[in-house]
Amino acid sequence: MAIGVKALPITFVAHAIAIVAAIMVLVWCLGFRGGLAWEDTNKNLIFNLHPVLMLIGLIIIGGEAIMSYKGLNLRKEVKKVIHLVLHAIALILGIIGIYAAFKYHNESAIVNLYSLHSWLGIAVISLYGIQWLYGFVIFFYPGGSTGLRSESLPWHVLFGLFVYILAVANAAIGFLEKLTFLENSGLAKYGSEALLVNFTAVITILYGAFVIFSVASQGPAEDDYSYSAV
Ligand code: HEM
Repeated sequence: MAIGVKALPITFVAHAIAIVAAIMVLVWCLGFRGGLAWEDTNKNLIFNLHPVLMLIGLIIIGGEAIMSYKGLNLRKEVKKVIHLVLHAIALILGIIGIYAAFKYHNESAIVNLYSLHSWLGIAVISLYGIQWLYGFVIFFYPGGSTGLRSESLPWHVLFGLFVYILAVANAAIGFLEKLTFLENSGLAKYGSEALLVNFTAVITILYGAFVIFSVASQGPAEDDYSYSAV
């Protein structure tokens, strides 16, 4: 399935939205929440690494990895390496981001894995890792047979999109959860910080939507590595 729209302009809009989303989460965590730290007596600064790394790492860089096949007019081998390296960076930053949430909980004597967000988060990062490993082994090194690769490709695209949509949805739940905690501790419900957090979630979802549009749109001239499977 491909919609009759060129991918390139869609990816440009997505890049612009990504920059806005990254600025918003940084303004929130640096400007409103006191900054970022790996070690500090103020444990909230350790938590702040979580939304920053999950949004800029897993969601934005992961989205750029997905779009790289449609937005770049390069040789298939080059695009493949860009795709897998960007996904590896997204995965590593996501793992560090989740570690930061656990570190914050452990150092603040808060239990782990009690929320829907945390359960879906573990599912997302595990499925993302499995998807990356399968893709690496089948499409890159050592590489499956031609038959296995062409059979695997539509599954790779479908499963990848599923995991990505779940990640975007879970990021939105994360913003909701944190804002609810803050509001329950006295943060103004219509104050500037509350609006910033809600709009960051809206912009995150908008970015996810443009990533999906780009997948369904028409990339540069088809070669045997471009996918028109979805
Ligand atoms: C797709 C991106 C995300 C994933 C995969 C993810 C995953 C996780 C995981 C696994 C935990 C559990 C940590 C523990 O139990 O010690 C957690 C905690 C948390 N995350 Fe996220 N997260 C994501 C994005 C976000 C974002 C953008 C926010 C926004 C502030 C956020 C807010 C929270 C909060 C408040 C907690 C602590 C409460 C809880 O465990 O539910 N998360 N996250």
